[in-house]
Amino acid sequence: MNTFVTGRRLARELGEWRSNAPAYRSLAERIRVLLMDGRLSSGAKLPAERELSQALDLSRTTVAAAYSKLREDGFLDSVRGSGSTLRLPGMERGEHGLHPGLTLDFTKATTPAYPGLQAAYANALSELPRYLSHDGFDMVGLPDLREAIAQSFSDRGLPTSADQIMVTVGAQHALNLVARTLYSPGERILVEQPTYPHAVDTFTSLGARILAFPVRQETGWDLQQALLQIRRAAPSMAYLMPDFHNPTGLSMSIADREYLAAAADREGTVLVVDETTALLDISRGPLPPMASCSPNIITLGSLGKIAWGGLRIGWIRSSREMQARLLRNRPAADLGTPLMEQLAALALMNDLPSMAASRSLDLRRGRDTLVQLLREHLPQWQVDVPEGGLSLWINTETMSSSALTLAARAEGLGLVPGPRFGLDGAFERHLRLPFCYSSEQLRDGVQILSSLSGQVGSEPPRMPLQAVI
Ligand SMILES: Cc1ncc(COP(=O)(O)O)c(C=O)c1O
Repeated sequence: MNTFVTGRRLARELGEWRSNAPAYRSLAERIRVLLMDGRLSSGAKLPAERELSQALDLSRTTVAAAYSKLREDGFLDSVRGSGSTLRLPGMERGEHGLHPGLTLDFTKATTPAYPGLQAAYANALSELPRYLSHDGFDMVGLPDLREAIAQSFSDRGLPTSADQIMVTVGAQHALNLVARTLYSPGERILVEQPTYPHAVDTFTSLGARILAFPVRQETGWDLQQALLQIRRAAPSMAYLMPDFHNPTGLSMSIADREYLAAAADREGTVLVVDETTALLDISRGPLPPMASCSPNIITLGSLGKIAWGGLRIGWIRSSREMQARLLRNRPAADLGTPLMEQLAALALMNDLPSMAASRSLDLRRGRDTLVQLLREHLPQWQVDVPEGGLSLWINTETMSSSALTLAARAEGLGLVPGPRFGLDGAFERHLRLPFCYSSEQLRDGVQILSSLSGQVGSEPPRMPLQAVI
């Protein structure tokens, strides 16, 4: 499916795009960088020249020349009457594989399967015959699985019943369903800055206007800014990750949770709390779920990080009234969660404490190894040690992370640059580095980064084409 990129959105993504080169070249190069690092996707339709020239306050000739340069270099297809479509030369549309020479892929913060996963599937297979006369998929989840998920909330200090739980196809699906249910055209959605990029993708796909408030390494969540935005713009929802926030790994204090929940309730903004990373505790200790602070909070969760991403099992905890609204909206996009995966998830839920303990050990090793390697090989980078989660959020101080990403790709290392986690081109000096890889992979990755550190400057890239495709 083609996505349409509006002039305003492109202007926002472009950020500071001008360089010393002529304007049309700088513009073409910047669009190419956004395509290379995934902020614009292959197959996306660019705005018409007139629309972009208005959004950037530029002459139409300059935009036309930039589009023409992109066409010449093979990054744009234009068909009269149906607009201009971005493409990555050498990659078929819809193919999401990375550069064939990529040997280390740090673009994803995902974990290998929990060792008990295969046994959980074997268990599911032995249960399967009992269900073969049923549909094999359903819209709310198997009663036993809903019960087990509800129990896991109760065990964490938030009494929950099974009818407050809907089982989904992962947390991303849960987020999409919640956003479609809460959002009406013209409304705004508040997010943290930095935030989880695919949440922003979801909100943008609905046409939402997105507002952000900062989460800083040193001081945490800027609640004054959050409150200001909530009061000024009355967003319909605010999307948060209070436990091991992706990408910073920070956790919100209990006092801040209570303060924000009370403010959101006063102003009628629904807090959507994403707990996908909440059980990835390395050295913090347990906290009750943020939904303890207000009955209006909607919580998303997933077995994706703690058990295996390939399981595709997530959930939504909310009030019963909200569950009814979600159920009405669900069939527009999917007809239910597969039974086999639910049965495997049910077996795994019994193992939740040991899954969390085993993850914690692996993540501690990965975190400590990566921190040590970076302190040794890249001492100029500012590296904070998170208490949980899957990644380090690094301030490179002077280096352009877009340029570093492109240079690293040429060396076979896949990265996601900082601006993918921000709005308006923020975080050009930041880099998310996941530590959920083996010590050898982390060592190889840091070696590549360290060898590139002398070559990559603070300017976003003017990269040689062949290096990145
Ligand atoms: C914060 C956050 N939310 C949601 C998701 C998506 O989770 P799932 O794989 O369960 O769809 C991820 C995956 O990376 C994530 O980091």
